[in-house]
This record gives sequence, C-alpha cells and structure tokens, in this order.
Amino acid sequence: MASGRFITFEGGEGSGKSTQARLLADSLLARGIDCIVTREPGGSPFAEQVRDLLLDPATHPHSALSEALLFYAARADHLEKVIRPALVGGRWVICDRFSDSTRVYQVEVGGLPVDAFRALELIVVKLTYPDLTIVLDVPAEVGLARATTRRLAQAIAGEDADAYEKRDADFHARLRDGFLEVAKAEPHRCSVLDGTKPPDVIAAEVLAQVDRRLLPPAGSR
Ligand code: TMP
Repeated sequence: MASGRFITFEGGEGSGKSTQARLLADSLLARGIDCIVTREPGGSPFAEQVRDLLLDPATHPHSALSEALLFYAARADHLEKVIRPALVGGRWVICDRFSDSTRVYQVEVGGLPVDAFRALELIVVKLTYPDLTIVLDVPAEVGLARATTRRLAQAIAGEDADAYEKRDADFHARLRDGFLEVAKAEPHRCSVLDGTKPPDVIAAEVLAQVDRRLLPPAGSR
C-alpha cells in the first residue's frame, strides 16, 4: 500500500488553520481519499496532556527551552502513535500546526538557539517531514483581533484564555514574519495563502495546491 501524504497547516493566532484543516479533510474524503485530522500540541492522549500543561496560564511564563522540550515530547508521542501509523497505512494526515510552529514561536520569537531546534527536529521528526505545508497569512492586527474575539467568547463561557493568547500586536507581527521566513526558505514544501479571504475561497485554494503539488495528473492516476 502506498504511503499517505502528510499536510500541515501553519500560521499565527486566529489564522483559520483549524477550519481549513477540517474543510480539506471533507474534500479529500469526498474524493475517496482516506484521511485524518489531528493537531499539535496534542493529537494523542499523552500529547493532549502535555498540551494542557503547556497552555495552562497558571504556570506561565517558562523558558523557550522548557517549552520546546515539551512540544517535542508531545510531538514524539504524536508521531509514534498517530501520524506514522496512519501514513504507513496509506491514510493522509492533516495536522493543525507541526514543527514550523516551534521554529517560529520558540526560536524566532522566543529566542531558542536554532541549533537546539535542529537537534530536536533530527531526533524526533527524523524523516517524517510534511509533504506540503499551507501557511495561512494574516496581518498582525487581524490575528490580534481574532485572538481577542476568541478570548471574549472564552470569558463569556467562563473559560480562561490560554497562556499563548494573551499577547500583543508586536508578538503577532513577529509571528507573521517568522512564518513568512520559513515559507520563503522552503518554497518546494510551503505555500502561503491569504488568510483574510472567505473560508470557502481559501479552501478552494488549498485544494488547488494539493492537486498541483501532491496528486499526479489525471492521466497517470
Ligand atoms: P493552537 O492555538 O493553534 O491550538 O496552538 C496552541 C498554542 O501553542 C499556539 O499559541 C501556538 C503554540 N505552539 C508553540 O508555541 N509551539 C509549537 O511547537 C506548537 C505546535 C504550538
């Protein structure tokens, strides 16, 4: 059985990744392509526990190194228990965030030395690198506004905002620059789409990227 394909969605806060991950799964399933949607941090029972630990506002802040080690502990489990078995079984994996998020949040914004990131990447990700990464790009003020709206909704529901959602406009601008840099450095893997367009328009653009980059032309299928 052919290996499945691995697609990740990346971007700052409120960039619409989760919506697009779900919409892509719907389109693939409608075409008869078996796929799963998962997320980071999280995606396996242990990694979801690490997620709770990482996002708990009560224990913030922590160093970029502590965070990176935990994100990679969660990632190792997620890869081992969910992502690799699915790919080996021929299923496609759509993941809401992956290691580019560590590269941007902990290295570019948090100041973790890039060598530490590369070492963790080598040990944990090994060859399970995404075939395609969609970067949803939104201006800093849009990311901030969407994060603020989400926080208000959480407050109304009586939930605390997670620790990563309590950041300012400069933080959102640095995230945006970081993801654009990653995409520029790896154009064969990454595609940047305008995250301010309506969700259905973005979904069609995502599908076009999948067709162009991952699916062989109709005659050769
Ligand atoms: P989410 O809001 O997209 O579910 O992600 C949770 C937060 O975790 C988000 O603020 C980004 C952050 N994060 C990192 O800082 N490093 C990482 O490696 C990952 C996967 C997420």
